[in-house]
Amino acid sequence: MEINFRKVNFKYDRKSPNNTLDNIDLSINAKGEFIAILGHTGSGKSTLIQHMNALLLPTLGEIEIFEHRIIPKYKNKLKDVRKRVGLVFQFPEYQLFEETILKDVMFGPKNFGLSEKQAREKAEEALNIVGISEDIWHRSPFSLSGGQMRRVAIAGILACEPEVLVLDEPSVGLDPQGRVELMNLLTDIHNKTHKTIILVSHDMNLIARYADRIIVLKDGRIVYDGGKRRLFNNLEMVYDFNLDLPESANIALKLKEKGFIDFKDIPLTIEELANIIKRTLGDIYE
Ligand SMILES: Nc1ncnc2c1ncn2[C@@H]1O[C@H](COP(=O)(O)OP(=O)(O)OP(=O)(O)O)[C@@H](O)[C@H]1O
Ligand SMILES: [Mg+2]
Repeated sequence: MEINFRKVNFKYDRKSPNNTLDNIDLSINAKGEFIAILGHTGSGKSTLIQHMNALLLPTLGEIEIFEHRIIPKYKNKLKDVRKRVGLVFQFPEYQLFEETILKDVMFGPKNFGLSEKQAREKAEEALNIVGISEDIWHRSPFSLSGGQMRRVAIAGILACEPEVLVLDEPSVGLDPQGRVELMNLLTDIHNKTHKTIILVSHDMNLIARYADRIIVLKDGRIVYDGGKRRLFNNLEMVYDFNLDLPESANIALKLKEKGFIDFKDIPLTIEELANIIKRTLGDIYE
């Protein structure tokens, strides 16, 4: 287990009676998990992920991040932690600042001590992974579309070669096509590099299709940590946590209510829904 939370509490204001994170126990294995963190607005998702690379320190409890033991008021250097757990903020394109795309992506690896030449190699590799073509590497990042800017920002983190990639609402604000492209990119990175990917998202269609493990936060507590099917099959839990269902599940429930179809597992994607319908039609026409 590479990231381990043990009884972590956090509050922004020490005088406040309420914890923003409350008694968090959580283990993340850096070998290839694809995890989605869900929860109502204000439930503590962004706060939680900022603990994963020690951007925020616990108020109580401890967090193991690889061989580092992060405790309240931790004072040691955090460079190694920051390098190994890459955090992509919400709207990361706001943090682009260099004159050219290439320079922007080289900034991280240089900051972690690579030479100009090595940083350039890592940056070029990362830009290729995110699909930004070479002929625009010398343009200003601000000349790009929103979706491309976000890819460049993600490349900036990838170029530092983190073992765990954490992203805060990476698809928010993109058009439907851009959202699917971004998730395909993350899945691709996940499949090729076996990096653990952790993302915060409100987009149930994407989560239901791409994530394996789901963590749900409610009022700063983890109220669910497990497989996506077990969660979405339990409608009581889904409604109790204020979560939406993926579109395919909503349609399936309507069709079931009207007696057109029946199923054991709720369909998480349109393809799964199509299969249920096909099976039903098959029964009718046989
Ligand atoms: N910098 C801060 N200072 C003080 N309180 C904060 C700060 N950031 C967040 N909070 C509070 O902490 C709680 C959790 O916020 P957080 O941003 O982690 O939630 P979230 O689940 O990411 O919400 P959203 O879905 O809206 O992004 C909220 O009550 C929020 O108002
Ligand atoms: Mg947030």
